[in-house]
Amino acid sequence: MPRKAVTLHRLREMHASGEKIAMLTAYDASFARLADAAGVDCLLVGDSVGMVVQGQSSTVPVTLAQMVYHTECVARGNKTAWIVGDLPFGSFHQSTAQAVASATALMQAGAHMVKLEGGGWTTEIVRALVERGIPVCAHLGLTPQSVHALGGYRIQGKTDAQADTLKRDAQALADAGASLLVLELVPAPLADALTELLPIPTIGIGASVNCGGQVLVLHDMLGVTRGKLPRFVRNFMIDAGDVSQAITNFVDAVKKRQFPIPGEHTY
Ligand code: KIV
Repeated sequence: MPRKAVTLHRLREMHASGEKIAMLTAYDASFARLADAAGVDCLLVGDSVGMVVQGQSSTVPVTLAQMVYHTECVARGNKTAWIVGDLPFGSFHQSTAQAVASATALMQAGAHMVKLEGGGWTTEIVRALVERGIPVCAHLGLTPQSVHALGGYRIQGKTDAQADTLKRDAQALADAGASLLVLELVPAPLADALTELLPIPTIGIGASVNCGGQVLVLHDMLGVTRGKLPRFVRNFMIDAGDVSQAITNFVDAVKKRQFPIPGEHTY
């Protein structure tokens, strides 16, 4: 039986019933088609495209026009997955009006939801987008667009004060109407506390197996990315015969809570 289209309502049902949400990045039609057919719930057209496709050293140079292009490509390949379009650096920082215009461009390119990185200062932006019918995924913890301000790709929320700020920001973003929250590179006990606290699903990457779902960058989990990878990455290609099987195994591992392995892929 072909799967029905994943909707926001379906994601909420999954969360309510305890079913984990499997999210994977995609940047083009071919991989979007494979990931959708393999049962990935959410395709994230991430600004990680800057690093894994364009060869940039961070996501900062990625433009809105590039994100629109990649969102269109993914939308053409996808049939049923929920598409999340990432708002790139500088596309929502100036004003709420700028954020609404940028999010509109991604939605018209085929996204079903937009994702934006940042804490308390993004709360009003989230509220404005949601009021205008644009579903929002927030992103806290390590926010790669701020890598230069954060001093590198480091674990966030290690001190009590940082953890309190994260809790306050997460609650404010959920109250403003965010429907999902990506938690990147936060200690597992803090990810668990945030997951308990919030009414919306948390999607972990280097966070905790108890998050409402998990996300990985496609090129990382297929073993394409070179160099030293963060410990939260698992190469699903090693035990798979082909890309489709690797993605199926990822979905399976997320649903069965076999990925991430506490202590091995988490902090
Ligand atoms: O751009 C991206 O791929 C992301 C994930 C790391 C969550 O934001």
